[in-house]
Amino acid sequence: MDDARRLTHLASRMAHIEAFEVMEIQTLARQLEAGGRDVIHLEIGEPDFRTPQPVVDAAKRALDEQPMFYTSALGIAPLREAIARFYAQRYEAEVPASRIVVTAGSSAALLLAFGILLDEGDEVLLTDPSYPCDRHFVRALGGVPKLIPVGPESRYQLNADIARRNWGARTRVVNVATPSNPTGTMLTPDEIDGLARLSREKGAALLVDEIYHGLVYDEPVKPGELHPHAQRPFDLDIHRIPERPGEPAHFHLDVRYLLIGRGEPCAGFALDRL
Ligand SMILES: Cc1ncc(COP(=O)(O)O)c(C=O)c1O
Repeated sequence: MDDARRLTHLASRMAHIEAFEVMEIQTLARQLEAGGRDVIHLEIGEPDFRTPQPVVDAAKRALDEQPMFYTSALGIAPLREAIARFYAQRYEAEVPASRIVVTAGSSAALLLAFGILLDEGDEVLLTDPSYPCDRHFVRALGGVPKLIPVGPESRYQLNADIARRNWGARTRVVNVATPSNPTGTMLTPDEIDGLARLSREKGAALLVDEIYHGLVYDEPVKPGELHPHAQRPFDLDIHRIPERPGEPAHFHLDVRYLLIGRGEPCAGFALDRL
């Protein structure tokens, strides 16, 4: 170890944060590609085509034509309003722009959400298996991830009964993903309702990660039905604009945002400060 590395102090919480293996595998795969090997990438969930030209052109136009200054921390108003209109058109759901916080990716949204919700030592209920970074985000913010083993009997998801059985004195957040990574299973509206009710009863937050919302093979999106969080009172929802049927995945510039529950006016205020 050289001197510079020996002098570096790392926070003790890093002892609980494991390597994100997906990135390590991707780096190795890219090295093989650079050496001339033909690699089929299955390590990261992303499309195998380039960003569509209309998106590239719009981004270039914006760089040329629009001033690039600091924006509101919650996102520029036209984008937040466009997302609000999207809910009205697609889901017939009224979601005012004031409940929408644009973030640089879902990871930023998760960090912000845990940042406003957790005190040192507060617990977050998560499924095992779940997206591996979630537990690290919780740790990074001083929280304690409580991984609950789940199996086929609950479709690898939490429900209110499982969450209640695992509830502790310091539980402050229930974090679910629907569709889930890595299992792809979804929560039913009733299950989400049950979790929302339990969280509300306990004064905790339900954090629903729906970055894969809309990626379903069977059920078409039905207006007003697939978006119960528009009505749910207590919760934070990580979201991205889902693809329309027939459109290539990632056609939209991949905008991520946090949707704040109706009963959480202070969440927007807190998010604005971070
Ligand atoms: C369930 C889930 N949440 C969050 C993320 C992080 O997403 P982003 O790349 O937008 O930060 C991922 C990425 O794979 C994920 O699968």
